[in-house]
Amino acid sequence: MKIIFTKDYDQMSKMAARYIAGLIRLHPESTLGLATGSSPIGTYKELVKQYEDENLDFSRVTSFNLDEYVGIDENHPQSYKAFMNQHLFNLVNIDKDKVFVPNGSAEDLEKECARYEKAIEDFGGIDLQILGIGRNGHIGFNEPNFKFEARTHVVNLEEQTIEDNSRFFENREDVPTQAISVGMKTILQARRVIVIASGIEKAEAVRQMVSGEIIPGLPASILQLHPDTTLIVDEAASSLLEERGKIHV
Ligand code: F6R
Repeated sequence: MKIIFTKDYDQMSKMAARYIAGLIRLHPESTLGLATGSSPIGTYKELVKQYEDENLDFSRVTSFNLDEYVGIDENHPQSYKAFMNQHLFNLVNIDKDKVFVPNGSAEDLEKECARYEKAIEDFGGIDLQILGIGRNGHIGFNEPNFKFEARTHVVNLEEQTIEDNSRFFENREDVPTQAISVGMKTILQARRVIVIASGIEKAEAVRQMVSGEIIPGLPASILQLHPDTTLIVDEAASSLLEERGKIHV
């Protein structure tokens, strides 16, 4: 795993955006795997800036989001589709026909998972997967101790994840308890992966991801086996890493 050490959230976001923009410029028809949450907001902001100021062209890009809550409509302000519209899709020239987010309000969720997985396959897989990491080491919504070989599936969210997400909802009871998530196997088949992590609360998960045992209990640890993963961390999130201070680019 390559590690890029940055000072703070802003620098981390700029570095991640530079990586993504570089790929889009080199390969305009890239398929991106996208994440939601607080980690990538700054990265998306930087990408929008590059679109506005430096002609970064999203018109041939395809994107697949990692996950979506079950039981809330895509128009719900807390849906991940709404998040992506707000932070990226509505602000750049991406073709909305090539933007994919799992449908968490589908009648048949199993069918929806299979449809989503097939769509990723039909587009030739993910060229670059962007990931945040949960405090418990989850990626996407692949919670600890779920199988590494999973494809897109319905997930029961862990208590800690529900708690973490509750900051976005008025009432604790409104926080969804299930989500559709792209599975670990599909994530691992992405040609390149970047993980962005910021803040002290991520430090232990980051340490275990980089140098802990590779175990389903810490889903992100399997990225140690991925041939092209780059971790972009800020000082706080890297504070427990022995490699700290060395720059591997
Ligand atoms: C979101 C996702 C999650 C988040 C993770 C970290 O699409 O897949 O795995 O990346 O929960 O969330 P933040 O960035 O809010 O700390």
